[in-house]
Amino acid sequence: MAVRVLKPGVYAVGAIDWHRKLFDELIPLPHGTSYNSYLIKGSEKTVLIDTVDPAKEYELLANLQKLDVEKIDYVVSNHAEQDHSGTIPRILELYPDAKVVTNSKCKEMLRDLLLIPEERFVTIKDRDTLSLGDRTLEFILAPWVHWPETMFTYSREDRILFTCDFLGSHFAESNLFVNEEAKIYEGAKRYYAEIMMPFRTSIKKHLEMIKGLDVEMIAPSHGLVYSRPETILAECKDWVSDEVKNEVVIPYVSMHGSTEKMVNHLVDALIERGITATPFNLTSADMGELALSLIDAATIVIASPTVLVGPHPRVVYATSLVNALRPKLKFASIIGSYGWGGKMVEQITGMLSTLKLEMLEPVMVKGKPNDDVLKAIDRLADEILKRHKGIGLIKEEQ
Ligand code: FEO
Repeated sequence: MAVRVLKPGVYAVGAIDWHRKLFDELIPLPHGTSYNSYLIKGSEKTVLIDTVDPAKEYELLANLQKLDVEKIDYVVSNHAEQDHSGTIPRILELYPDAKVVTNSKCKEMLRDLLLIPEERFVTIKDRDTLSLGDRTLEFILAPWVHWPETMFTYSREDRILFTCDFLGSHFAESNLFVNEEAKIYEGAKRYYAEIMMPFRTSIKKHLEMIKGLDVEMIAPSHGLVYSRPETILAECKDWVSDEVKNEVVIPYVSMHGSTEKMVNHLVDALIERGITATPFNLTSADMGELALSLIDAATIVIASPTVLVGPHPRVVYATSLVNALRPKLKFASIIGSYGWGGKMVEQITGMLSTLKLEMLEPVMVKGKPNDDVLKAIDRLADEILKRHKGIGLIKEEQ
């Protein structure tokens, strides 16, 4: 990837991974991704902020060559995960005087993950600064976005905040700056859903802390750079707020059509009651889209046939993901079918243990759903409507 310029002396030197399809062998990447690394040439010192995934090491090194970088004094590591830190060992080999600047927690993790020796580190604390001559970097500890060691680096004179994963998005784009805001903000929201959502409380604090900085650009280490930081910060504030929306998410699997008939009936019943309903057929659903839908939803209804006394394995997977992502959901229910018995309701309920949910009466059918079952689904839709009204998501006159 070509070198791109954020400001005089501040360069994007990372790599774009146009064709990567999966992250952490888990998260689908419909638009690829990028590993952004930034080089700042100060009047006295040169610093590299984060590196790239080892698979793209050659692109970072080629960019440093294009800029004739003969000396790197510091490599700032905002986050120890290997998509940003994985090329640090190679940089330390090529630039033998370079030191890794990071906090003590990140140092510990880099030593474990990359075997970087102690003597190559400069350890900083929250709000410590580093002079590059004409520029000053300030380090701001921001734990749990999304690991315990994460931090931000603020270039005071450039008014650029380097946030690594925070406010990132998985996009492979040749543009450096956000141009199509709606598209990029949806991508950033999805990224938040996939890895940041469990840390909502920490992020709220970090957003408050950023308010005190004079920021002209936010430069994350995935996706594009924000030249209008106030917009993405306002978006993020909405994601982490305690507010839920008048929405129901319905992840489901159906093997012989019974569960699907119940899901379709529920979707229609909810729409008729003025509630947004989104079904996800888990045999083909993009799990990133499911995570995205969970940011705002007030209610989840999990629908499954019974397989070997429990829920379908795809439902088990999706339910464990919902539980781990810890969305703001308030209400839940379970619908589905069985042939001769089982413990699906108990098992799914048990798998949602980290969430503080009010469980609504489940609807289970032996065999094919008849009219009585569909009426029970209508009653479930009524209960959801009542709960949504109860927390002010729907006005009484609607
Ligand atoms: Fe982009 Fe947590 O690594």
